[in-house]
Amino acid sequence: MSAVLLALGACTTQGGEETTTATTSSDNNGNAAIENIMTRTSIRQFKDQPVEQEKIDIMLKAAMSAPTAMNMQPWHFIVIDDKNTIGMLSGKQPTNAPLLIAVCGDTDKTKTPDGNGNMPDFWVEDASAATQNLLLAAHALGLGAVWTAAYPAMDRTAEIANVLNCPQNIIPLAIVRIGYPDESPEPKDKFKEENISYNKYGGKKE
Ligand SMILES: Cc1cc2nc3c(=O)[nH]c(=O)nc-3n(C[C@H](O)[C@H](O)[C@H](O)COP(=O)(O)O)c2cc1C
Repeated sequence: MSAVLLALGACTTQGGEETTTATTSSDNNGNAAIENIMTRTSIRQFKDQPVEQEKIDIMLKAAMSAPTAMNMQPWHFIVIDDKNTIGMLSGKQPTNAPLLIAVCGDTDKTKTPDGNGNMPDFWVEDASAATQNLLLAAHALGLGAVWTAAYPAMDRTAEIANVLNCPQNIIPLAIVRIGYPDESPEPKDKFKEENISYNKYGGKKE
């Protein structure tokens, strides 16, 4: 697996939006995992080049390495490389991705007892963590990917579930569109001090 070795450097403004320029310098102690996280960005344009099965297997293993409440693993992954099906799932923002992975929750596996007789559902959190792992694995493998929404947009969720022949317990959370990138947008710098408090809301760092 080729780790992404670019690190984040200077911030620039392009078209009014803050972006982060990838450089070879590193303030991440040369840590490839941190650099992979910080250099991931959504890719929506892809080369006409299939994704190797070996890479698909690694992405699925990474997805299923995600944390999951009480280790319930309430997820299911539908790998889609059939052009017809991809066409039917293109939605309002079509991309030319050669591979889609639908990350679904499995509500038959999700009832988690909390000790008080309540049964909270954590499938959304679990499937979201799996989706993020999938995106990061794609990036680490030299692929590009974008999370496209399904749940909780219920019309879209139902449309996708119908195309994929999902039984009632299988709920599409996201469709990840994957392929070799045919664009190279800069990662966005989303770090904002204002989003951080210390010890209590609004608390400042000592
Ligand atoms: C829950 C969720 C739903 C998203 N849905 C879409 C989508 O339907 N179409 C799309 O092009 N991008 C979608 N995105 C990608 C976001 O637009 C993207 O992550 C955001 O603009 C930040 O950019 P970055 O991923 O390059 O850091 C979604 C992301 C998340 C987390």
